[in-house]
Amino acid sequence: MHVVTLIPGDGIGPEITKAVTDIFSAAQVPVQWDEQNAGQTTFNQSGELIPAALLKSLEKNKVALKGPITTPVGKGFRSINVTLRQKYDLYQNVRPSKTTPGVHTRYEGIDLVLFRENTEGLYSGLEVYDERLGIADSFNRITMDGSRKICRAAFAFAAKHGRKKVTLAHKANILKMAGTLMLNACKEAATEFPQIVFEDKIIDNMCMQLVNKPEQFDVVVTTNLFGDILSDLCAGLVGGLGVVAGANIGDEMAVFEAVHGSAPDIAGQGKANPTALLRSALMLLRHLGEHAKANQIEHALDATLLRQEECTGDLGGQASTSQFAQHIIDKL
Ligand code: NAI
Repeated sequence: MHVVTLIPGDGIGPEITKAVTDIFSAAQVPVQWDEQNAGQTTFNQSGELIPAALLKSLEKNKVALKGPITTPVGKGFRSINVTLRQKYDLYQNVRPSKTTPGVHTRYEGIDLVLFRENTEGLYSGLEVYDERLGIADSFNRITMDGSRKICRAAFAFAAKHGRKKVTLAHKANILKMAGTLMLNACKEAATEFPQIVFEDKIIDNMCMQLVNKPEQFDVVVTTNLFGDILSDLCAGLVGGLGVVAGANIGDEMAVFEAVHGSAPDIAGQGKANPTALLRSALMLLRHLGEHAKANQIEHALDATLLRQEECTGDLGGQASTSQFAQHIIDKL
């Protein structure tokens, strides 16, 4: 039995979390949930954003499934996601984007995995504001060590999963220091994996090519800010935020989470699509070596996605979150 920390989160978090835990129970997955919470709801109840008990649970279990957490814009608390990624050096943000039969998109044949550096760059948290001059500086800190680690992880993943090509998205033509450092780190990693084709693309061209001909990409690696934006772009290519999984992976710990936010506009209405969190949970199962259970649930999910009427509204169906989960359970 694997013990996994479960963080339901805010907004639609508890609804989609329940769908996933119901499906796992029905499939008799050998996972025991250690439920802890963090975020806006927890803060309102206890005055704590990230309770000490949650950190203890993460440090003990080393693996977690996390729902979305509301982060107020501007003043207010620092993103819990960013805090956890930095505290536990979860330096890889891994986001697969694949077209699924039944999920309507403008494209076919997309199967790419994006590796976003998760702890550095413009999200390092190094910001200063000079009130007198009205100047805000946000530092784009890129380190050789961090760049090497994420680029190597992308190549190692490509090699392990029989993928053919790694594309680095960067802006080394303008960011002469930070961009070039990442480019050099990636070239260095590429020499270790001669069987994998390496190419680099400037970020603006990368965006255009992703929209124009996304099926040409296989594994993509990039910095934190570019990766944040590109990963949502990739989600849009394959059906939207409701269907895309994500993982934050370090050498010691891994936190799996849906790509989307807490969706306050539909929270509490039973409209949320649990697919993104379920697919993240399937990544978690594979991380734990439970491939057979992951495949079993994935087949039931794919069969449900083929029947639009059994899906939630964002996929053109009429099912509620719990009805959608039940349709998956019926196909296990
Ligand atoms: P959002 O992802 O919550 O919502 C964007 C749009 O997508 C909304 O129209 C929403 O209804 C829809 N949507 C999202 N997930 C869906 C699902 N599973 N099923 C059906 N429709 C879905 O992004 P937004 O509105 O920018 O952010 C809301 C809050 O979430 C903010 O406080 C933000 O900071 C936080 N957030 C948290 C993340 C996390 O915890 N990983 C990631 C992104 C945002």
